[in-house]
Amino acid sequence: MVDRKPLISGNWKMHHNHFEAIQTVQKLSYALTKEDHALVDVSIHPPFTDLRSVQTVLDADSIPIALGAQNCHWEDKGAFTGEVAPGMLAKLNVKYVIAGHSERRELFGELDQQVNLKVRAILKAAMTPILCCGETLAEREAGSTEAKVSGQVIAGLQGVAAEQVGGLVIAYEPIWAIGTGRTATAEDAQTVCGAIRAVVAQSFGDTAAAKVRIQYGGSVKPSNAAELMAQPDIDGALVGGASLDADDFARIINYRIA
Ligand code: PGA
Repeated sequence: MVDRKPLISGNWKMHHNHFEAIQTVQKLSYALTKEDHALVDVSIHPPFTDLRSVQTVLDADSIPIALGAQNCHWEDKGAFTGEVAPGMLAKLNVKYVIAGHSERRELFGELDQQVNLKVRAILKAAMTPILCCGETLAEREAGSTEAKVSGQVIAGLQGVAAEQVGGLVIAYEPIWAIGTGRTATAEDAQTVCGAIRAVVAQSFGDTAAAKVRIQYGGSVKPSNAAELMAQPDIDGALVGGASLDADDFARIINYRIA
């Protein structure tokens, strides 16, 4: 049995300027204990403009919170106005990069093929992708949740070696649960996360499937974190709204005490 250390990630989306980011990280660091860090990996994903400031605080105070980004381009450099290269993030000690968040897919037209290029570029830059997948409400009601999610996972991991798949993170985020206050029931979330692990096993083998960490995301809050985290195939959470407040986020990271 592989021990998958939970990873709880705060996706700040387009919130918190660099001053607010520094304050939030400092507050979060005071709220977390050594034991929390021993039991749970924590990452925060602020906007690009905050990364350097947050990195400096994490470094200066030796805070064991990993720095994450919300997106990146797949090329190393070039004429791509407005984009950020994986190597630039790696230089800032970014450890985790979200790829294919549903807001990127829905609002900015990101396709599976581009998400796959991002996943591969993130790995090439020695960082860890958090590959997102999830169904719309219409897809859920039509009974096509597993087909949609499996398709996104297979497409997103195209051409990735099995040894690398074991080290990455997949985030299952039902789109209808993001930012809506509606959460999948723990049983439903477990069913889909279990199906994702089965798809990884089929395509990349049992070792990769046993090691890959699968997060649930979509209105995770202090009141529902423990139940979600108790599911056997849920190895963490990708938290949006509730990660903006250091106390709420710390309570989620502390789910085992709730
Ligand atoms: P939420 O966002 O927790 O605000 O629902 C989750 C996400 O989009 O990562």
